[in-house]
Amino acid sequence: MAANIIKRISSPLGWRRRIDRVAYPLRRALRKPFLPKLSDDYAKILANLERDAIHVCRIQDLQLPETEAFWADVEKLKAEVRNEPSLDLGGYFAEDIYSYHVPYETISVKGPNFILWALSNQLLDLTECYLGEPACLIAVDYRRDLNQGADVGNRKFHVDILDVAWRRALKVCVYLSDVDENTPALEYVPENLLPPRSKVSRGFFYAKEIEEQVPKSKWVPVYGPKGTVIISPLNRLWHHARTPDCPDTTRYSAWFTYTSRDNLMPSDRKNDFSRKAFDLIENSLNKRQRESLWWYGLKT
Ligand SMILES: [Fe+2]
Repeated sequence: MAANIIKRISSPLGWRRRIDRVAYPLRRALRKPFLPKLSDDYAKILANLERDAIHVCRIQDLQLPETEAFWADVEKLKAEVRNEPSLDLGGYFAEDIYSYHVPYETISVKGPNFILWALSNQLLDLTECYLGEPACLIAVDYRRDLNQGADVGNRKFHVDILDVAWRRALKVCVYLSDVDENTPALEYVPENLLPPRSKVSRGFFYAKEIEEQVPKSKWVPVYGPKGTVIISPLNRLWHHARTPDCPDTTRYSAWFTYTSRDNLMPSDRKNDFSRKAFDLIENSLNKRQRESLWWYGLKT
């Protein structure tokens, strides 16, 4: 125990984290004048993220030129995911055998535009403005969630652990199939009702434990047709995948995760985007996109 504490205190990463805790707000303030200028529509999204920690819209509202190619690759990848058995992902999701994630290499070979959509200039600008510094894309997920089984994995309430707790991070989700009250849906507790430093801290909680803090009637499920986009720092919002009493429904969704480029929890993130996947799409990337992929930093 004592040896562990000494190891933590004396490790270079431990020192970097302690210094960063103080320097991070200062760094964000100094970078503010140099952040990208957002269009009025994107400035509204940013204002919603600052105020509510969530923005929900339709994919066409984002006006990204990459969207048409994104949908074409979504359909190609759907053929890959439709009949695959669910996998045990280990770690936090060890029990969550009701989800299937398309492997990164498959996405890179059969659907590179799925990744390139998340590296569009407008999304990188928005993310940079929210983080207060250039972003990197640390995870790309095409997932299928079956509405079956117990309250496990992402069905339990949690806040995402994406970097050290004081740092900003952002997730963008696109529903790839219609999501209604009969389908697994993202459900969250509005931030002002359950602040991060409340009686529940980082970890996974059963719905009944959250209900002791905030009545279920105040939880917000996000329903919407295929193409609904949810932009949210899910390391701020308590959320889970709502599982209704309606067996055999399925949700397909895309998830993109952005953090600072010098993520201070690298050991937790290192498997989230594989080097092989990066190598497969490297030639399609411009300089900013290359610098926005987590593995580029490790490669050079
Ligand atoms: Fe989550």
